[in-house]
Amino acid sequence: MTLRTSYTLIAPFYDLLIRRFSQKLRINSLQRLGDVNGLSILLPGIGTGLDIPHLPAGAHYTGMDLTPAMLKRAQLQIPEGLNMALQTGDAMALPFENNQFDCVIMHLILAVVPEPQKALAEAARVVKPGGRILILDKFLKPNETAWLKRAISPIMGRIATRTDVVFEKLFSSLPELTLNYNEAAGLGGWFRHIELNKD
Ligand SMILES: C[S@@+](CC[C@H](N)C(=O)[O-])C[C@H]1O[C@@H](n2cnc3c(N)ncnc32)[C@H](O)[C@@H]1O
Repeated sequence: MTLRTSYTLIAPFYDLLIRRFSQKLRINSLQRLGDVNGLSILLPGIGTGLDIPHLPAGAHYTGMDLTPAMLKRAQLQIPEGLNMALQTGDAMALPFENNQFDCVIMHLILAVVPEPQKALAEAARVVKPGGRILILDKFLKPNETAWLKRAISPIMGRIATRTDVVFEKLFSSLPELTLNYNEAAGLGGWFRHIELNKD
């Protein structure tokens, strides 16, 4: 089963499963946006659009996802007055020019894609120098044993999300990025708020 197929099946239940748990985490992450007036902001893997009600107006947002069934729900979340376009696409091969966005918001996508280092490298490519990448996701600490999370990851990764991604491994191969913020967000630090700057 591909991720697109499983997220097509998950789409009708996604908000019910994820909204309540994730709402405070996503609000806290998006507070880091600050003044967005005139900015161009990309959300790869936007899903059903649970971030959309919390996005400040004033920016031009592009939401992208691999799964049309998720995007269909996201479309219904866009309020009047929010400048947002949605399209299908792959976070590991973004259909955008280099240095196109002021900010890339990666909520619950880096641990989902099969090659998270590629997805982070793509975000780094499309963000402008001086721009930011905001991440909310679950990551193992570099030396964490977490045998159960590592053991179930191959199966979970095919269905919905990997559980063995170590952020520091992704980040270490991208010297153009600086770590600006890295704090526990929930579930004993498994979920983290991360902010990266592109030099
Ligand atoms: C866990 S959901 C997160 C959705 C949303 N960002 C949120 O915070 O609720 C993961 C999303 O990533 C999408 N996805 C999976 N693989 C992808 C890929 N290679 N490129 C873009 N989106 C992908 C899925 O369709 C799904 O909508």
